[in-house]
Amino acid sequence: RGQGVLQDTQVVITAGGTKEAIDPVRELTNRSSGKMGYALAVAALAAGANVTLISTTGQLPAFGINYIPVADAREMQQALTDHFDTTDIVIMAAAVADWRPRAVAQEKLKKQPGQETWHLDLVRNPDILAHLGTIKTHQFLVGFAAETQDLLANATKKLSSKRADMLVANNVGGDGVGFGADNNAVTVLQPDAAPISLSKAPKTEIAVQLINIIGRAQSAQQ
Ligand code: C5P
Repeated sequence: RGQGVLQDTQVVITAGGTKEAIDPVRELTNRSSGKMGYALAVAALAAGANVTLISTTGQLPAFGINYIPVADAREMQQALTDHFDTTDIVIMAAAVADWRPRAVAQEKLKKQPGQETWHLDLVRNPDILAHLGTIKTHQFLVGFAAETQDLLANATKKLSSKRADMLVANNVGGDGVGFGADNNAVTVLQPDAAPISLSKAPKTEIAVQLINIIGRAQSAQQ
């Protein structure tokens, strides 16, 4: 493949934590910063890919990266399915909320006099990666698994249950790695290959290593 490990491939990357609206001024979200996804987008671009970044952070990516801002899981799923036919590789680095409020209030919710508790009704969000796993034809699907315990066992289960081609297991309970941090340490799992551990390094460097691994695995699968 020419100069870059992803030369002329179409790569879609998701980044950030989804933001699930409660009312016009409030939302449910999580601590994902989007740094890993943005670093992967830059590394994929440098490797010769045509890159689309679907992000919840509101941050413009580097020049040359197509940008689709989204807020919640359903918008993210729609943006992914709109582009899926023409995509070669999907990297789901976003932290998708498992739950969303059952309904979005039209007006700002007010506390009532004397009210001490509030019950917010939640419903399950779609599992976007698992959905893509059921509709994929030629697409190479990469998921992330942020875990605080039993990292490899949980990530191995997700690799098969979501029908992903690769899962990047990420210990978010560690020191100075994972959510919001500038460094990361990950283990790459694939269905028929030995796990590959990438030791603690800046997310920008982890991203370059991951893009190399993804590019080689995806071209071997074609
Ligand atoms: O199940 P868990 O959230 O740990 O799975 C992580 C992987 O699945 C990530 O790649 C994440 O982007 C993706 N995911 C998804 N839709 C969800 C939950 C997770 O695509 N509702």
